[in-house]
Amino acid sequence: MSIVITPLTDAEPEPSGPRLLWLASDSEAVPLGTALLRLPSDTGTAPRAELEVRVHPAERRRAVGSLLLEHAVSSARRNGVRTLAARTPAESPGAAFLRSHGFGGVLTLRFARLPLAAVDTTVLGELLAAPHPGYRLESWTGTVPDHLAETFASSRRAMDDMPMEDMEQEPVAWDVERVRAVARAVEKRGDLLYTVAALDEADGAVAGFTELVVPGSGTGDAQHYGTGVLPRHRGAGLARWMKAESIRQARERHPGLRGLLTDTAASNTPMRRVNDQLGYERTHEEIHWSLRL
Ligand SMILES: CC(C)(COP(=O)(O)OP(=O)(O)OC[C@H]1O[C@@H](n2cnc3c(N)ncnc32)[C@H](O)[C@@H]1OP(=O)(O)O)[C@@H](O)C(=O)NCCC(=O)NCCS
Repeated sequence: MSIVITPLTDAEPEPSGPRLLWLASDSEAVPLGTALLRLPSDTGTAPRAELEVRVHPAERRRAVGSLLLEHAVSSARRNGVRTLAARTPAESPGAAFLRSHGFGGVLTLRFARLPLAAVDTTVLGELLAAPHPGYRLESWTGTVPDHLAETFASSRRAMDDMPMEDMEQEPVAWDVERVRAVARAVEKRGDLLYTVAALDEADGAVAGFTELVVPGSGTGDAQHYGTGVLPRHRGAGLARWMKAESIRQARERHPGLRGLLTDTAASNTPMRRVNDQLGYERTHEEIHWSLRL
């Protein structure tokens, strides 16, 4: 089969950075597959691009994907990219394909869902009532209230040592402006951001937090964003306590909501244990891949 690769123009450029696209077709112009390369917007020290290759299921195992990848790799090199990143479901054709082309798995993410109808409210009530001496919970909707803004922004450091396995990540520098910008972005999309924080009663500082984003319609599934507890407050059951309160609020505020989605690195034992205890059910795993160019 002769395969023709045609570069396409990006009809809807994104502010996050330029995107390069290719279409693979056969000699009769029948489309076979596509490749998409998201170039980094700032070139930084180790520029990293994201790759998506797709081949129509009826056209697989005929080297279409390999040819698309070849084009994407040479273009990435020409653009100074040092690392290619991609994601696939675990145990999928995509995983086998990337492995055969030298990509290495750098992170396994485990996805889980809590069906809200199945929540055991007695167990939830017990978890919420359990004493946590020295701490109290505080919650807000949308942007953090001014009196907690500084301490909430500093508590985001709790995510810095989150297990990311072999994935290279630049630590995010959080400040009040960034925290507010995230809340504004969620609001602009029409979604609702709810945060539950655990405060250290000794000084009123945020010891940990958990965030939930609910679709504006209040239906379907909501998505957990970050959950983090600062190192010196770990081991006191704060993550479970905060997440239990977040579940309670979601049920009470949004009776039309069906489930809560969460994902965590497969190696993050403490977070997985909290999710298991709260009744989250495992749905699937995703692998993050990386190739040094
Ligand atoms: C991954 C994908 C693009 C591969 O396209 P393709 O045209 O079938 O790939 P190729 O024919 O070039 O395969 C090249 C090699 O990858 C490996 N491979 C590809 N699919 C495989 C599968 N289902 N099982 C095992 N190995 C596989 C093989 O080593 C294959 O060589 P071989 O056929 O000589 O054994 C295609 O399966 C797809 O569109 N999947 C969904 C999207 C996706 O996961 N994309 C990858 C992430 S960017």
